Formats: sequence, C-alpha cells, structure tokens
Amino acid sequence: MNAELASLVDHEFPLDPYTLYLNHAAVAPWPQRTADAVGHFARENTVTGARHYPRWMQTENRLRQQAAELIGAHRPEDVALLKNTSEGLSFIAAGLDWQPGDEVLTSNEEFPSNRIPWQALSARDVRLKEVSLQCADPEQALIDAIGPRTRLLTISSVQYGTGLRLDLERLGRACREQNVLFCVDAIQSVGAVPMDVQACHADMLVADGHKWMLGPEGLALFWVNPAIREQLALTEFGWHMIADAGDYDTREWAPAADARRFECGSPNMLCAHALSASLSLLLEVGMNTVWEQLQHNVTYLLAQLEQRPGVEILSPRAPDRRAGIVTFRVDGHDNEALYRQLQAAGVVCAKRGGGIRLSPHFYTPESVMDQALKAF
Ligand SMILES: Cc1ncc(COP(=O)(O)O)c(C=O)c1O
Repeated sequence: MNAELASLVDHEFPLDPYTLYLNHAAVAPWPQRTADAVGHFARENTVTGARHYPRWMQTENRLRQQAAELIGAHRPEDVALLKNTSEGLSFIAAGLDWQPGDEVLTSNEEFPSNRIPWQALSARDVRLKEVSLQCADPEQALIDAIGPRTRLLTISSVQYGTGLRLDLERLGRACREQNVLFCVDAIQSVGAVPMDVQACHADMLVADGHKWMLGPEGLALFWVNPAIREQLALTEFGWHMIADAGDYDTREWAPAADARRFECGSPNMLCAHALSASLSLLLEVGMNTVWEQLQHNVTYLLAQLEQRPGVEILSPRAPDRRAGIVTFRVDGHDNEALYRQLQAAGVVCAKRGGGIRLSPHFYTPESVMDQALKAF
C-alpha cells in the first residue's frame, strides 16, 4: 500500500484497536465519510427537515451512477435501489412467466436468500435443481446440469461459506448459448472484486450494500438487463414506480420504463446518503487497487494459517478461485468453542461453511490479522 493510500485508510477506518474486524462477508464497518454523511443528514433533518429534497434526489442519482460504474451497467437508470438481495431475487422469481415443469438451476451451497425465493416456486410446479460445486470444475458441473426445461441459472458470484469464486463469464456465455437466463447474487463480490455485468453476460444482478460495499444494511443494488426488463411482471406497486411519479391525480398509469419500476414507494434516503459516501471511497481508491490489496490480505492470511499445526483450510487455495473469504477449522477444536474464543479476544468473524470464516477487506492491516491469529 503506498503512503497516500495508507494515510487515506488511516483516516477512513478509525477502528477501535481492540476490535479485530475480519467479518466483511457479514456486515462491514462504515468508513469515516459514511458516518459523516449520516451525521450531516441527521442534522439537516432536525434543522430544515426535507426542505432541500431536490438535493437529496441528486445524491440518490449519484448513488445510481456510482452503482452503475461499480457493476459495469451502461446506464444509471438501469439500477434500482431495493431493500436487500432477497427482495431482488424474489422480484425475479415471482415475476418470470414460469410454465409448469420449468427448472431453476443453482448450487447446493447458496445462502438462503438465493434458495428460498426459488423453492417457493414449487407452488407453480417449478423445480429447483441444486448442483454440488465440490468438484474440480464447478462451472462445468453447472453447465452439464442445464437441461431442456432449465429457464434460469442463479448463482452466488462467491459462495458465502467456502469463499469459492466462480468464473461468471464462462457461466454467462454458456447460459446465453443455451437460451437460459443468468442471475447473479453478487453480494459477496461487489465492492471486493471488479464486476462487469456486460462481460459476464448477466441478465440480472443483485447485491446488498452492507458487506464489501461498506454501506449500511437496508439498501441493495438491483440490475436487470434492459432488454429483458419487461419480461418481469411487477409484484410491488405504488406512487413511485409509475412513469408519471409525482402526478398524484392520474388514474391511468404505466410502469416507469427504467429500473424505477421496481421501486414502489418513497426511497430510503438515509441509506442512499450513506451508501453513496461508501461507494465514493471505493471508486476513489479504484476497484483494481481494492481487489489487489484484498488479494494481498487473503494471501497473507492463508500463508499465516497454513503455518499453524492442525489448521485445515476449507476455502479454495488457487488465486483464481478466491475472493475475500478464508474459512478454516482446527484439529481437535470444536468450531463453536473456537468461535467463542476468537470473539472473546475481540476478533469479529463468523462460523460458516463448517469452520471459522475470516474476511478482511482491502484496508485491513496485517497487524490485525496477526493479532487475530494469536487468539488461538
Ligand atoms: C450470498 C449471499 N446472498 C445474500 C445474503 C444476504 O441477503 P439479504 O441482502 O437479503 O440480507 C448474504 C448474506 O450473508 C449472502 O452471503
């Protein structure tokens, strides 16, 4: 990390020295500028209320631009701001025109947000086919499972338990060739790994902002390829999602042509201010630098863990298979007891994927990882 970046990071992440934060795959701490943006917004609300609402809308629009830049979307208007990943995936599951006997393909290790909306389709006689990724070529396993009734492949870009990163371009290309829709739960990679919805031929992408994007809970990015947007029947309705939002008298309405059609009512302005501040940091640092630093940290963590007797790494070791997650277990240690021991030492981590999951971000100092590993 160069001196300029180190000084920015020092300023933006004034974490308590007794809090060893290795849990960005769950909920991240906010940068200083995000806390400042929320503080200013709170102050403004108490002093002038919503008097300057047009300015708030500019911040919301800026957030859409930042989001589009982060995921490679062509236009900010193609990004909807939803409450969370589950809501976006539910929109897709509930909105497609399923025929009885259709199939949805996924892996058997998805976070429940990317399983339950599809399982709920069993009422419409749509079957969820879950494929194991525990093999030499997980993309091929998914591609081989595409059958004549497969309508959609939905997959996490990075698995929440093991941290396995998939080759989205390869999956997207195969889907396009076989006329299968490609839906990406990108919550474990947007803000960590450079992302380009065009390059990976995605049809839909959803990602909540409270992990690698360093934002608060309560606001997710939802992108649907504009070419197929109209294939999604709408399932939420209100004043804000219509073409003439703001015309409260009209009895005739049509959905907004752009992604606003998925935003039924008043926006989450507080979170929009916060997430916009968080994304401004990632974009200022640059996603290539963020990703480089994160890879450095994950490589460091793996190297330290590998030297420890009895440690079994449960995450993939190959650099092209990793993102920001390192999951491990220790021989003779019960995961729950180990987790409690780490927590007692101030290590913020998670028990996932059959072990302990550590997830540093780009700014995490090596000293924090060293201290955390001293806890067991
Ligand atoms: C892969 C994945 N998808 C989704 C979520 C969370 O979904 P939501 O934004 O609906 O809370 C998580 C959280 O851990 C996750 O790891």
